[in-house]
Amino acid sequence: MTNNAKLGVAVVGCGQIGARRAETAARHPGSELRLAVDTNAEAAGELAARYGARVSSDWRAALKDDSIGIVMAATPNALLRDIAASALESGKHVLIEKPMGRNAADAAAIAAAAQRSGKTLKVGFNHRYHPALMKAHELFAAGAIGTLINIRARYGHGSRPGYEREWRANAELAGGGELTDQGVHLIDLIHWFAGLPKDVFAYAQTAVWPIAPLEDNAFALLRYDGGVVASFHTSWTQWKNLFSFEIFGTGGSISAEGLGGSYGPEHLTLSKRNPRGGAPAVETFAFEDTDRSWELEWQDFMRAIVDQNPYWGTPADGVAAMNVLSALYASIESGKPVTL
Ligand SMILES: NC(=O)c1ccc[n+]([C@@H]2O[C@H](COP(=O)([O-])OP(=O)(O)OC[C@H]3O[C@@H](n4cnc5c(N)ncnc54)[C@H](O)[C@@H]3O)[C@@H](O)[C@H]2O)c1
Repeated sequence: MTNNAKLGVAVVGCGQIGARRAETAARHPGSELRLAVDTNAEAAGELAARYGARVSSDWRAALKDDSIGIVMAATPNALLRDIAASALESGKHVLIEKPMGRNAADAAAIAAAAQRSGKTLKVGFNHRYHPALMKAHELFAAGAIGTLINIRARYGHGSRPGYEREWRANAELAGGGELTDQGVHLIDLIHWFAGLPKDVFAYAQTAVWPIAPLEDNAFALLRYDGGVVASFHTSWTQWKNLFSFEIFGTGGSISAEGLGGSYGPEHLTLSKRNPRGGAPAVETFAFEDTDRSWELEWQDFMRAIVDQNPYWGTPADGVAAMNVLSALYASIESGKPVTL
């Protein structure tokens, strides 16, 4: 592939995740970072210098630029709707970070823009690309644990001093607290294994961080036709970072733990129910400690654009997650289960 044949990428929002996405796009043989956009000139300048890209403080610059084929948005959540919808309508492919905007209305507007444009829109549910979770899904789909009974997931970190002054603690910019931030990943993963729930219920707490009306903890229950139940807890008071996703079936269970780095080594345990009772047959799988999810996700996105391959994080996946998220907040507000 010649340089001209590469897809030019504009990264909008050059913070923590924008920098990761830029690195991944720059490494892929089919894409090249051409524009780094941030209202913080230093952040954009640093990223642009690293990859020989141009700089802008205005994301609209990407829309008018014919050398840009992909807009990658990694700004605070409130900006994702405008950036994604405008970029799609300007004929760009778009990868936006999770969550798909601040709420279900943002997600619906972005999905509608994707539909009108015919361009590829991907929502950054990178957790589906963690090797332990991919292996879990493969085993589950092959029937390794029989029929699904329930799912139990936990995800959290301990936040940091001054969190209340960051955009994630601002309801206008973030849309929600920890239920939105890390919870949306768990909602998407639960959908991946179990599909869409029939009704949901949740409690939230603002226990430690002075971020009310936003929550620093949420406990959610999702119930399915046929009786399957999924539960999760997301927390910004998880003093030692934790990721755990457990799936229980009639014939065994699968447990995916860790995400690498501060979340601990990624590993998976498959336990096969012992028909005679007693200890199950256990098989464990270990994965390298580097987080490859970003690279695998970008490869999937590029295949979707170039070869029209099916991919994860479709507009429908994003909308489904945001609809369930909105229903969970409605349940927190009313104190009652909410039917979808
Ligand atoms: N997939 C994941 O696991 C994951 C993890 C963390 C964050 N995220 C998501 O990524 C997005 C960004 O999060 P982050 O942690 O990188 O935040 P961050 O604060 O590190 O970076 C956000 C950047 O956006 C810039 N910005 C603000 N307004 C802008 C504007 N109008 N135009 C251009 N740039 C602007 C800021 O200056 C900052 O550099 C969020 O949507 C977040 O939910 C996803």
